[in-house]
Amino acid sequence: MEEWMSQQAERKSTAALVAVVDDDPLVRQLFVQALLRKGHLTEGFASASQALQAVASGGHRLVITDIDMPGQSGVWLLAQLQSLPKPPLTIMVTGQDDTRQAIHCLTNGAYDFLLKPVDLVHFVQKVSSALDFIRLAEERRRHQELVEDVAISERWRARQLFLSGIDALIRALEAKDDYTEGHSTRVAVIAEAMAARAKLRPGEVNELITAARCHDIGKIGIPDAVLLKGGRLTTGEYARIKDHPQHGARILEPIFRDMPAVVAAVRHHHERYDGAGYPDGLKGEAVPLYARIISVADAFDAMTSNRIYRRALSGREAVEELQRGAGRQFCPRAVTWFLDVYDEIADVAGGEPWLNMRCERRLEHDIELVLETSEARLPGRLLNLSACGLRVQTALCVAVGQEVRLEMIGLTPIRTLVTWSNPIGPEEATLHQLGLKTIEPSEDYLAYVRSLARPKTERRGRARINYVLPVSLSTAEGVSEQNAVNVSIGGLFLHTRAPLPVGAEIGLRFALPDAGTAPIEAQATVTHRLTVAEALRAEGAIPGMGMAFSALSPADAERLTAFVESRMAETRLRSLLGAAQSRAAAPAADMAAAHRPWRLPAITN
Ligand SMILES: [Fe+2]
Ligand SMILES: [Fe+2]
Repeated sequence: MEEWMSQQAERKSTAALVAVVDDDPLVRQLFVQALLRKGHLTEGFASASQALQAVASGGHRLVITDIDMPGQSGVWLLAQLQSLPKPPLTIMVTGQDDTRQAIHCLTNGAYDFLLKPVDLVHFVQKVSSALDFIRLAEERRRHQELVEDVAISERWRARQLFLSGIDALIRALEAKDDYTEGHSTRVAVIAEAMAARAKLRPGEVNELITAARCHDIGKIGIPDAVLLKGGRLTTGEYARIKDHPQHGARILEPIFRDMPAVVAAVRHHHERYDGAGYPDGLKGEAVPLYARIISVADAFDAMTSNRIYRRALSGREAVEELQRGAGRQFCPRAVTWFLDVYDEIADVAGGEPWLNMRCERRLEHDIELVLETSEARLPGRLLNLSACGLRVQTALCVAVGQEVRLEMIGLTPIRTLVTWSNPIGPEEATLHQLGLKTIEPSEDYLAYVRSLARPKTERRGRARINYVLPVSLSTAEGVSEQNAVNVSIGGLFLHTRAPLPVGAEIGLRFALPDAGTAPIEAQATVTHRLTVAEALRAEGAIPGMGMAFSALSPADAERLTAFVESRMAETRLRSLLGAAQSRAAAPAADMAAAHRPWRLPAITN
């Protein structure tokens, strides 16, 4: 008996649960026992309402119900079951004189029906084939999910590859001119902040940021003699500059076929609200929304940048210019969105926050931290930081102007002030990206920022490569084979739907591709997880979990470092060669920037 019970318990975790619903106790018992003898986990219920309650909360996959019962009938039960989020398969049992009722059930979602008197052998066969059907459907669903996962990853890789190339080109383009260095990033930052006021959805915000980041890519085709000319431009030279929106749209079109709004925003970012702009002379709301937003952000950044022929305007002077141009050069609503954002942040930061962005270098840095307000304490993920500000992703909902205490491992907690907050994700917005201004940053925090700013060779541990590496994962549940898609000396990122919670301790075993070396064995802790839904929302992320090594022998750490660095050097060399072929004049320092991952730009104050 004990053995039978333990077999049943074991089956419970894997087998489908069957519910038999019949008011006749003899029939019910007969059915239940016949199925139990065949090894199917089965429960009996005397009424439809009892069965519905259990099925709604119990994960039954198959229901066999008599149609004719006192109280609620089997037909009623079928209708209720069909409205559950995951309806079970239902087999109706009916008398010879009531086949019309059975056919009605079949057209309303029942899987099959049995006529009374029921032959037990036939009954068991029918249940077995229904359970086979369920298993097959689940296999197919799992397979589809796997295919979707792979498709997401592949799309992500292709888009990332292209965007990092575009990013490198933009950096190379802007680096030619001290006055425009960082222009596209700042325009994207401002546009992103305005997007919240324009009530854009998360997917739209991503499109807007991408368009803002790439808006001047068409300038790549303009000769330096024209682009960097200090004096007055001839008519012909000016005409060449005016071609850059169309060139940019042509460059981006092939990769953004599924995001035509990005291409349109680049093409039309020099249109004017009064129709006097270029290239198409669009007027008013006919100018695409993203282009109207970028136009304001672009003008503000241009006005507050120094030029050879004029000094930069102050933030306030530039704001006044925008106000004067509202309804003529600029969309009045876009100017209002800009002013809202500008005033809000200027009030909190007590100065000219946009101008500060120029002098402050932001460092991309991905670690876990804890955020605490007077009401709540939740984990978050650091996206980038500088001496005076940080960008963080978290589920904590905090208002602009509120104070937040940040805890990072090994540092004294620092106080910060929320300067902006953007919800990420669907309507319910479970995640937020916060811009935080540091309040009197501690000495060790500043030292930490300085250490990150050192050249990469001095902080080998932070080097990370995209590399598919088979890994054996040992947990309390057993050993499973997974693939790491990201490898660093500090940890791995596994592409998996792993059910492990953040903080779980796991054992890892993996071999580096160098022939003849022993596998590396390490202990690790899960630091963060990304579900398929989150990965889709983040556009460009891979679902899985990140983990940091908690125990790794010094010899293995050394081998891992050598491996990661050699791969990084290879990638860099390949890219430099490719870049040299396509743009012989490109300075090497610019192209090195191509290896920085494409990131959504951030604001620091
Ligand atoms: Fe432009
Ligand atoms: Fe621009």
